Amino acid sequence: MANTENVLAETRSLTRRFGGLIAVSGLSIDIRKGEILGLIGPNGAGKSTTFNLISGFCKPSSGSLFFDGEDMTGKSPVKISRGGLVRTFQHGSLMRSMTVRDNILIGAIGALKGSRRNERPTRVNETAAILGLTPYLDEVAANLPHGIQRLVSIAIAFAPRPRLLCLDEPLTGLNQTEVGTTLEVFARIRRDFDCTILLVEHNMKAVMKICDRIVVLHHGQMLATGTPQEVRENESVVSAYLGKHHGA
Ligand SMILES: Nc1ncnc2c1ncn2[C@@H]1O[C@H](COP(=O)(O)OP(=O)(O)OP(=O)(O)O)[C@@H](O)[C@H]1O
Ligand SMILES: [Mg+2]
Repeated sequence: MANTENVLAETRSLTRRFGGLIAVSGLSIDIRKGEILGLIGPNGAGKSTTFNLISGFCKPSSGSLFFDGEDMTGKSPVKISRGGLVRTFQHGSLMRSMTVRDNILIGAIGALKGSRRNERPTRVNETAAILGLTPYLDEVAANLPHGIQRLVSIAIAFAPRPRLLCLDEPLTGLNQTEVGTTLEVFARIRRDFDCTILLVEHNMKAVMKICDRIVVLHHGQMLATGTPQEVRENESVVSAYLGKHHGA
């Protein structure tokens, strides 16, 4: 465990094999307190597998994971999320047949138990307000536009007030206005709630705009890391990935 005080989470030589395929290979990254860290790379680079590893949904073949100084290697998703690390899923994290209110409530339940149970309705309302979802609270999620459903997924993850929020392609399918609104939400929760964000995204314009630092994955390994400008100017990153993303 590095003794750097400003590191919230770190992976050390994290590796995951699926049979003969190495999806994540010897990955060592630091996630610093208060930053928005982008995790980018081509399809199949290992981004979602990295999310699965750090959130406990997938056990590492080798290597380790620390969160807030605690060794979380091999710990369950429940244990890790109670520690303050919450993630969304690439293909959506909401219950389509339930209302927005009940969806957000699901996110709040684990964090507000026992004597804090009566705080749940307030937490749901506050979370909805932060994400601009108040007008939709009593709507069934499936009836809402895609962009609003994406925000509901983020609201569920943010309801327990995580210290590290891991978002897997939250901007997919959003129009330009919705992307702008969602980026404002990220900036607000980082600023007002001290929430560190790990962001997997293919929308390079958005990533370059909002991230403090970026890690580029390629074939499960770290190809490069640095500021958006450093990454944009890195020739191996351009030839492996960015060359195909004109928004960068
Ligand atoms: N459960 C699994 N079993 C077998 N192979 C898997 C499994 N999960 C992921 N893989 C493989 O691991 C590699 C990395 O996949 P991963 O989903 O992490 O990529 P990604 O960077 O998130 O891609 P995308 O941008 O398309 O979402 C791919 O080759 C994928 O097929
Ligand atoms: Mg993925």
